[in-house]
Amino acid sequence: MCGIVGATAQRPVSEILLSGLHSLEYRGYDSAGIALLDDGQLYLSKHQGKVANLEDAINANPSNSHVGIAHTRWATHGVPSADNAHPHVSHNRVAIVHNGIIENHDALRKELQAQGIEFSSQTDSEVIAHLLYLELHKGEDLDQALEHVVERLEGAYAIAAIDIAHPERIAAARHGSPLVLGIGFGEYFVASDPLALRQVTNRFIYLEEGDRVSLTPKHYHVWARDGLTVERPIVELKDKLDQASKGEFDHFMLKEIYEQPRVLAETVSYAGLPTVDETIFGDNASAVFDQVEAIQIVACGTSYHAGMVAKYWFEQHLGMPCYVEVASEFRYRARAKRPNTLLLTISQSGETADSLAALRDAAPGEFLASLVIANVDNSALVRESDLVFLTQAGPEIGVASTKAFTTQLVGLLVLLLAFGRRKGLDAEVQKQLLLALRSLPDNVEAVLAQRARIEAVSERFIQKHHALFLGRGVYYPIALEGSLKLKEISYIHAEAYPAGELKHGPLALVDEDMPVIAVAPNDELLEKLRSNLEEVRSRGGELYVFAPEEAGFESSDRVHVINMPHCDAITSPITYTVALQLLSYYVAIQKGTDVDKPRNLAKSVTVE
Ligand code: G6P
Repeated sequence: MCGIVGATAQRPVSEILLSGLHSLEYRGYDSAGIALLDDGQLYLSKHQGKVANLEDAINANPSNSHVGIAHTRWATHGVPSADNAHPHVSHNRVAIVHNGIIENHDALRKELQAQGIEFSSQTDSEVIAHLLYLELHKGEDLDQALEHVVERLEGAYAIAAIDIAHPERIAAARHGSPLVLGIGFGEYFVASDPLALRQVTNRFIYLEEGDRVSLTPKHYHVWARDGLTVERPIVELKDKLDQASKGEFDHFMLKEIYEQPRVLAETVSYAGLPTVDETIFGDNASAVFDQVEAIQIVACGTSYHAGMVAKYWFEQHLGMPCYVEVASEFRYRARAKRPNTLLLTISQSGETADSLAALRDAAPGEFLASLVIANVDNSALVRESDLVFLTQAGPEIGVASTKAFTTQLVGLLVLLLAFGRRKGLDAEVQKQLLLALRSLPDNVEAVLAQRARIEAVSERFIQKHHALFLGRGVYYPIALEGSLKLKEISYIHAEAYPAGELKHGPLALVDEDMPVIAVAPNDELLEKLRSNLEEVRSRGGELYVFAPEEAGFESSDRVHVINMPHCDAITSPITYTVALQLLSYYVAIQKGTDVDKPRNLAKSVTVE
């Protein structure tokens, strides 16, 4: 999604801004731009495509400017183009960058056009630049002008603005889209993600909804929604910077797949097992958990699949009702209230617009409390939920989620243990689960050791346009996750079905051009799945079966068996996931797609 970086300093800022934009590239974008104040002039450069195009233009015409704002755009209103790229400028005086969506832009545009203002883009954002110009033209100060402009905006925004009449200043505001203030020495920054500024500072203020800020190299000022000055806490980030580099790997996605044994172990150890340290969820966690009788999970994308897995786990092992819904549906439908229900959001970024809206839209008293499983501390969902479980995945840069998903599943198993203590979870199951969590990193290593086999099999997908994933029980959401991964990064159309549904439609699609990928652990549903796979084989389908040796599948002409390690039943959805991640990765490599930044997708979906 769109990214914002701004800097006001006693040194030239263009390199800081470009390096910030590079750090935000992983989020997904289609154009990039920069506006700098230089010697009383506004210098603007905007380009479609990669940040490197913008960088080339800046290098060809270097600037010593000490104040600037920059942006990566992910098109919502208006096609990807240089004209639609941010910053947007009005009367060659003021420049703005914007993340989010201005819902009343149409009305504002008409009103501005009626006053003779000409627009040079199709974006919703351009209205902000013109409104700001009109306020400034009345003689207002930049901070005041922005205050008046945001009063007129409906929708979601993070905005940063500069004006030639205020040569050292950046004014910024947030409502519904993330924005942080970076604190340096004799310099201040704004960005939509702290990652963009980690080269220059590790000290941040996470702005709250409705906050406005004013920055110069010497000072910053924050106003809260009510217009009053407010002190926000400064947070010092301690995670290591090298986590955001690819190291020896060709892609972030592969690096993140390989980090899983370590981050899974770290997430397990964070939970303080064998007895769950419930204080990690928040001070009040134990009292809340005592009252929980049901769980409502709300999430998007891969995180939604983690929720689907949890439903199988919680209902099987705890007999606790667990409902799972995608956030974009949940938030817009009338819901029946269920007593003593915990609202559990799951989100890697902690910023996904629909998941956040679902949390915010929950009616007072609708839920007992809210809990988020997230990977990013200080993210909006983390700040706004009553309780938090922080996965220990570290920054995930590849757009296709890998280590964030598997650590979310560990977080859900930790929650299962916490509830298990209260709901009389069978002691033998508890013991098994603890052992399984301990051996999980080794099981994942064993899957990674199958890399060459999976890579070899992936070559068979080069000419394929469709693929079908099958699983049963808790492996159905794993099949869904496998198919999502494949379509995200290889652009092969992939679908997943519970294997029992095969006869009710998808079997009609099976022919020699349709690879069928089966997740086939040796469990109580294996024989049923085996029959489903026979149905595929007898119709000429080509099978790729992920199964342990003891399941008894053998490779033959159109059957390719990928041996999975023997692993504990409860954690094996996690290990099978890793195998499917590798399959998608290698298929994408064969197809030559942009693995870490697949077309049209964004890492963090901060607009609806
Ligand atoms: C985007 C990402 C997915 C992610 C989904 C939900 O679509 O590309 O990888 O699963 O958003 O994101 P969240 O941060 O809430 O887990």
